[in-house]
Amino acid sequence: MKTNPTPSTADELRAEIKRLKEEKNALIMAHYYQRDEIQEIADFIGDSLALARQAARTDADIIVMCGVHFMGETAKILCPEKTVLVPDPAAGCSLADSCDPAEFEKFVAAHPGHTVISYVNTSAAVKALTDIVVTSGNARQIVEKLPEDEKIIFGPDHNLGEYINSVTGRSMVLWNGACHVHDRFSLDKIAEMKREHPQAKVLVHPECRRPLQLIADKVGSTAALLDFASKDDAPEYIVVTESGILFEMRRKCPGKRFLAAPAEDAECQCNECDFMKLNTLRKVYEALRDGRHEIVVDEETARKAVRPIKRMLEMSE
Ligand code: 13P
Ligand code: SF4
Repeated sequence: MKTNPTPSTADELRAEIKRLKEEKNALIMAHYYQRDEIQEIADFIGDSLALARQAARTDADIIVMCGVHFMGETAKILCPEKTVLVPDPAAGCSLADSCDPAEFEKFVAAHPGHTVISYVNTSAAVKALTDIVVTSGNARQIVEKLPEDEKIIFGPDHNLGEYINSVTGRSMVLWNGACHVHDRFSLDKIAEMKREHPQAKVLVHPECRRPLQLIADKVGSTAALLDFASKDDAPEYIVVTESGILFEMRRKCPGKRFLAAPAEDAECQCNECDFMKLNTLRKVYEALRDGRHEIVVDEETARKAVRPIKRMLEMSE
């Protein structure tokens, strides 16, 4: 394929990304919250669990992780020999940031004899203090595999922790963290939408608050919500998670209507994760072209963090 040193249109960028990908044996992975333009060119799209599983099994030399930083870090920890690039290094996660490693260490120390479960939306340093990592796609399954009397601390997402406690009957001690997108969805606004669309089913991510979980027809990870919508027979859905998922929902279920839930504040795009949306086609191209924004995890942290991630993969096979 002919090289184009100055791609400017979307078509030219797509062609250059394709060429570079083949030349460098790279794999482009994308989370469901990515911009449509990125989901369109990705080799693999998934929820956090699927992205971790795919990273662990790929034979590509380079992974371009189109998502947020912890997703790139998880891939790097699982595949230290590979180069993991992120299109925009500022793509963080408010939930991961709500769990400072030094504070989490004190929380762990204050609960001796507890198994430490951390959501994958955490820094490598928090994972290094953890016994088992979970995602929203396997948290219930993993907690249910532990003995009923096992004492557990769970962080950082309080809403997900409450959800897992409610469905498993456990009393995990919860860290008080939250995601700035999911924690802001308003029960009143969604109840109003439901009155306007009585046929619609309500799909809720477990990072949303408990009252929203309680009115949901389905609570689940992004992949679980997609799966539910593709097998269910309702004509319409109110989707209470980041609105990027609507791209794949509409692609998978062309005959159905998907309505993005508004958040509390009508003035802002509160159903969008500003971190996820930092990645663009151009940044994917530049990352691939220059090997830009490589994820680095120090050896000692990676050595400690890989165990709870691998334990998660083994426990949810
Ligand atoms: P999923 O694992 O359900 O894709 O969620 C990731 C995430 O960041 C949710 O905000
Ligand atoms: Fe983090 Fe929330 Fe964005 Fe998910 S939606 S990546 S939890 S800030």
